[in-house]
Amino acid sequence: MAKRICLIGGAGFIGHNLAVALRREGHEVSVVDFLAINNEMTLIDARNRNKNTELYLWMVQERQRMFLDHDIPLYVQDARNYHELCKLLADEIRPEVVVQLAAVSHAGRSNKDPFSTFDHSFRTLENALDNSISRLNALDSSVIGAGEVSPLIEHFVYFSSSTVLGDFESDTVTEETICRPKGIYAALKLSGELLTKAYNQIAGLPYTIIRPSALYGPRCVSRRVGQIYIESAMQGGVLEIRGDGSSKSDFTCIDDLVQGLQKIIKSPRSRNETFNITAGEGRRLKDLAKIVQVNFPGTLIQYQKKDDLFPDRGTLSIEKARKLLGYSPQFKLETGIPALIRWYREDVPKNLIRKG
Ligand SMILES: NC(=O)c1ccc[n+]([C@@H]2O[C@H](COP(=O)([O-])OP(=O)(O)OC[C@H]3O[C@@H](n4cnc5c(N)ncnc54)[C@H](O)[C@@H]3O)[C@@H](O)[C@H]2O)c1
Repeated sequence: MAKRICLIGGAGFIGHNLAVALRREGHEVSVVDFLAINNEMTLIDARNRNKNTELYLWMVQERQRMFLDHDIPLYVQDARNYHELCKLLADEIRPEVVVQLAAVSHAGRSNKDPFSTFDHSFRTLENALDNSISRLNALDSSVIGAGEVSPLIEHFVYFSSSTVLGDFESDTVTEETICRPKGIYAALKLSGELLTKAYNQIAGLPYTIIRPSALYGPRCVSRRVGQIYIESAMQGGVLEIRGDGSSKSDFTCIDDLVQGLQKIIKSPRSRNETFNITAGEGRRLKDLAKIVQVNFPGTLIQYQKKDDLFPDRGTLSIEKARKLLGYSPQFKLETGIPALIRWYREDVPKNLIRKG
């Protein structure tokens, strides 16, 4: 059944892909985003200008074009502002489902700027959760039933991350594996999971927590490793591997994550659960580099020192999502990465790929 869905932080990489897919499924989708973290306002700031500025500006403007083409309203609003967010949600959007994506979504950047990561990742989450419940005269002890809290919406979806787990102690982990986060990003993500569960405890707010991992796909400006390798190869550069290339990540195509979220929204079995939504297979960094190299013959691979805060990882088991939701990822690295390379070759204007 069609739902009114609000994506907070929805003009980002994951959000715009989700918004379009949910709209195509017939949902009424709204996006709240202030476009100022890892988005248009960051890119046009003169202090951040580099050879990829025009390419990335084109990508984020393509996202906005897709919103227009699919009749998806974009509300340019800072989600840190509790009262403005409250007005927007209560008077304008009136969502049945809230999906919380807003964050400083990059572990390296979060460790360099803990203050603003707390603000944009945790403050925005708390505002979104608090605006998803109602209080009956919460502070007026003379009113019978005062202080009772109940959900205002049907479903709250929180985007956590596989980084909450820290270093994997076995090759495969499940949703039950003990979390040992490393660094600011992962610590705040795990805190966000606990806060989401706390709103369920105090107000019965139905939730789902999603743990994605190492996503890749079109119109991403986050400079994660797959994107860096493809752009570097197209620009005539080398592919740098940190460490010996044996460290593994569960690289996931954005289309598979979108499929997982669509199933989470549809299925009552997703409520009050945490799911790994990934490809379900840890792959070595050097496997990724080699796939890119095969598509750009002559490109060199270079080995560099490993970043100690980067956790050693592997496979996130997706058995729970398979069983409860019927989730079934369609892309392996061998198909997903060439599809992304095709997008760069066929859809991105050639003059935006600057060599050197
Ligand atoms: N991309 C991945 O590989 C990955 C993996 C695991 C988890 N996640 C999580 O998924 C979520 C979305 O990731 P993404 O890759 O789309 O990130 P992104 O950086 O592309 O998008 C985040 C969006 O949030 C917005 N935002 C930030 N602070 C805001 C604020 N105060 N008010 C309004 N909007 C605000 C930004 O403007 C941006 O458009 C994040 O929470 C991220 O931590 C992403």
